[in-house]
Amino acid sequence: MKKLLTFTMFVGLVTFLTVGASGQIKKGKTRAITTKQLMVGLVKPQCGGLGESLKSAPTDDKMWGELAIKAALLNEISYNSTEYGRCPDKDWAVAVTGLRDGSEAVLAKIEAKDHSGAQEAFKAITASCAACHKVHKK
Ligand code: HEC
Repeated sequence: MKKLLTFTMFVGLVTFLTVGASGQIKKGKTRAITTKQLMVGLVKPQCGGLGESLKSAPTDDKMWGELAIKAALLNEISYNSTEYGRCPDKDWAVAVTGLRDGSEAVLAKIEAKDHSGAQEAFKAITASCAACHKVHKK
């Protein structure tokens, strides 16, 4: 009887841990937006737009300003990506830090109007997407 009780508790704990963790991956604990919506609606458009725009050198301040908005939004999203109970583990945290630091570096290059520097720094952003997806995107 005691064994059965221990076993039941064990199964309960495993279920709690796995469901709890995947819940955090798909959605934060206290916000309505799902990770998928965050990715499709916010992350992808900014990252795709930034990568596309960086293919050629901006020719005026308006273009530099548009690049800066995309990099700044990616940076802002990095904060949302760990808040509200949306950080299941260390892999997630490390990838988000990569996104945060990478977007900050791109922003600094944009502010310096350093096109090739921004292109180079952009690689850290795409590396952070890949790092998290490798572990958490099923
Ligand atoms: C900290 C983790 C993490 C980071 C960083 C991250 N993603 Fe994701 N991404 C996910 C997870 C988890 C999913 C799967 C969500 C689901 O299906 O519930 C996903 C899914 C996606 C999807 C697919 C949505 C669909 O239609 O299924 C796209 C597109 C995407 N991410 C783009 C990006 C881009 C671009 C970056 C980098 C700028 C990025 N992601 C960075 C975790 C991350």
